[in-house]
Amino acid sequence: MYKFPKDSKLNDQEFIFGVATASYQIEGATNVDDRCPSIWDTFCAKPGAVYKQHNGDVACLHYHLYQQDVNLIANLGMDAYRLSIAWPRIIKPDGSINQKGLDFYDRVISALEEKNLTIMVTLYHWDLPQYLDDDGGWLNRETAYKFAEYAEVFSAYFGDRIDFYATLNEPWCSAFHGYRDGKHAPGIADDRSAFQACHNLLLAHGLAMPILRKNAPNSKHGIVFNFTPNYPANDSAKDVTSFADDEHTHWFIKPIMDGEYPKTVYQHYIDVMPVIGDDDMGIISTGIDFLGVNYYTRSVIDRDGPYPNYKQVNLSDVERTHIGWEVYQDGLLKLLTDLNQAYKLPPVYITENGAAADDHLVDGAIDDEQRYRYYQKHLSSVDKAIRKGVDVRGYFAWSFMDNFEWSEGYKMRFGIVYVDYKTQKRIPKRSALMFKEFLNSRQ
Ligand code: FCB
Repeated sequence: MYKFPKDSKLNDQEFIFGVATASYQIEGATNVDDRCPSIWDTFCAKPGAVYKQHNGDVACLHYHLYQQDVNLIANLGMDAYRLSIAWPRIIKPDGSINQKGLDFYDRVISALEEKNLTIMVTLYHWDLPQYLDDDGGWLNRETAYKFAEYAEVFSAYFGDRIDFYATLNEPWCSAFHGYRDGKHAPGIADDRSAFQACHNLLLAHGLAMPILRKNAPNSKHGIVFNFTPNYPANDSAKDVTSFADDEHTHWFIKPIMDGEYPKTVYQHYIDVMPVIGDDDMGIISTGIDFLGVNYYTRSVIDRDGPYPNYKQVNLSDVERTHIGWEVYQDGLLKLLTDLNQAYKLPPVYITENGAAADDHLVDGAIDDEQRYRYYQKHLSSVDKAIRKGVDVRGYFAWSFMDNFEWSEGYKMRFGIVYVDYKTQKRIPKRSALMFKEFLNSRQ
């Protein structure tokens, strides 16, 4: 069972614990009820893009098994569930509303309400409708306005039934994996495209915020970022480390909090900077009610030629998870305290944290020893961050169950619940049982 000091906020009922998932990673049923293709369906079909050309056609079949999944989330003692909505299920290529898509999420949300679970919805967790990519995707400013229309449709329908609306999940990944290194859909590798996509994503967030506030005045509205704090490999790498933080952390959060991009990065990449409309920065910095933070690991970097060039260094004597990411819980503490110092933060929710492991079913059980140690360590960092004054109010484990891990396909298992993909059987791993015991022990 996970344990924290007696006076820890994590032991209070007000601190919410939940699990997180995303539509394309779990739903399957990609051809059902008039869902239209997304950029991930297209990307998965490209030879070499995804491990063994896996795709989300079946995934965890959550589209049909949602009721048992919700029951299991409740049964684990969770307070909350973070899910994402598939835009390609909601808006058809001709711009009309797909009622069958809204009906599906109505069924899921009703099931969650039935169990009294707090509901956090992410409107965009990377599955852009393919018809929008055909018109330029996130390189096209129009896509931001299309996102706002989709946010209007969804939030007008569900309103305050959703407790937390997050506009985007990890725009860093959408922009930098999608358009800079090409590891994610739509698979473009070009700096100018990446910065333009990033700007249009942030604009989409800003355009959606007032709509969400209007349609769901009693809900909380915010955005989810992935942050990987940078550490210098040696003393001479300190200045490039701070540049790397500007490029990968502040480039995303500073526009939201302060209405501007970090000057260091802007100047360095001046030749590939995005087209920014006169009102854009004001729209982007409209204010958020909560900040979602996804944390998995840190990055260690060294100089690579003249300032500010840098490269990532792979330390050899550190603990790593199955996906190769270093286990480094102090990075979460440093990240939270640094952000809290740099900005006037709204309440913070850890919206993703977790570990991939090479899990095996042995005698009907999964002893995911490394994962449950990972959770204990990172939750302790959250506890320390709260003691240092960071207003963290909740924590979501990534993920509820094993699922389609993007370009890694089904090879990487992040769930606290094991999925046997042949039978679609769900089996709580030891980490899930440890959560259950802890959650039930709270007063
Ligand atoms: C995050 C994504 C999530 C999952 C985890 C492992 O970047 O938001 O969908 O893939 O990584």
